[in-house]
Amino acid sequence: MKKLLIVYHTQGSRTTELAQAALDGARGVEETETTLKRAFDTTADDLLAADAILFGTPENFGYMSGALKDLFDRTFYACENKVNGKPYAVFVCAGNDGSGAVFNIDRICTGLKLKKACEPVVARKVNTPEQVEAARELGATLAAGIAFGIF
Ligand SMILES: Cc1cc2nc3c(=O)[nH]c(=O)nc-3n(C[C@H](O)[C@H](O)[C@H](O)COP(=O)(O)O)c2cc1C
Repeated sequence: MKKLLIVYHTQGSRTTELAQAALDGARGVEETETTLKRAFDTTADDLLAADAILFGTPENFGYMSGALKDLFDRTFYACENKVNGKPYAVFVCAGNDGSGAVFNIDRICTGLKLKKACEPVVARKVNTPEQVEAARELGATLAAGIAFGIF
C-alpha cells in the first residue's frame, strides 16, 4: 500500500483545519495509507518511508514556520539523494501573503529533488470554505496520484 505523509505546524487553528481537510480527502482513497504528523514530531525516517509528502505551514515573517524549517534542517542530509522524484505539495495559511512560505519550501524541495505534484493551496486572512475544500482535494489528489501511478 502506498503511503502519504501530511506534515504540518501551527500555533493556532487555521493550518490544522486545512491539514484535517487534506487528511479527510486523502483517507477517501483506500489504496493509500495517510498519516498526519506535526513537524516537530516528524523524522527523516518518516520522510523516507512516504511515497508522497504534503507540507503545511503558516507563513511567518515571509517564510515557512520555524518548525517546518527545523524539519528540513534536521533531515536534509539523511534525505538528500534518497527522495529524488518523490511527489510533494504545499498548503499555507497566511495573514495577507503566503508567497514567501511557498517560494522557500519549493526552494528546499528543489534542493532535495522532490517533484512538485500540485499547485499550492494558500489561504489568506481567513480559511474560506473554498480553501478548505481545495485542501481536501489536494489530499485526495496526492493520495490517488500515488495509488494509481499518476505522479
Ligand atoms: C510570528 C508571526 C509572523 C507572521 N508573519 C506573517 C507574514 O509574514 N505574512 C503573512 O501573510 N502572515 C503572517 N503571519 C500571520 C499568520 O500567517 C496567520 O495568522 C496564520 O493564519 C496562522 O496560522 P495558524 O492559525 O495555523 O497558526 C504571522 C503570524 C505570526 C504569529
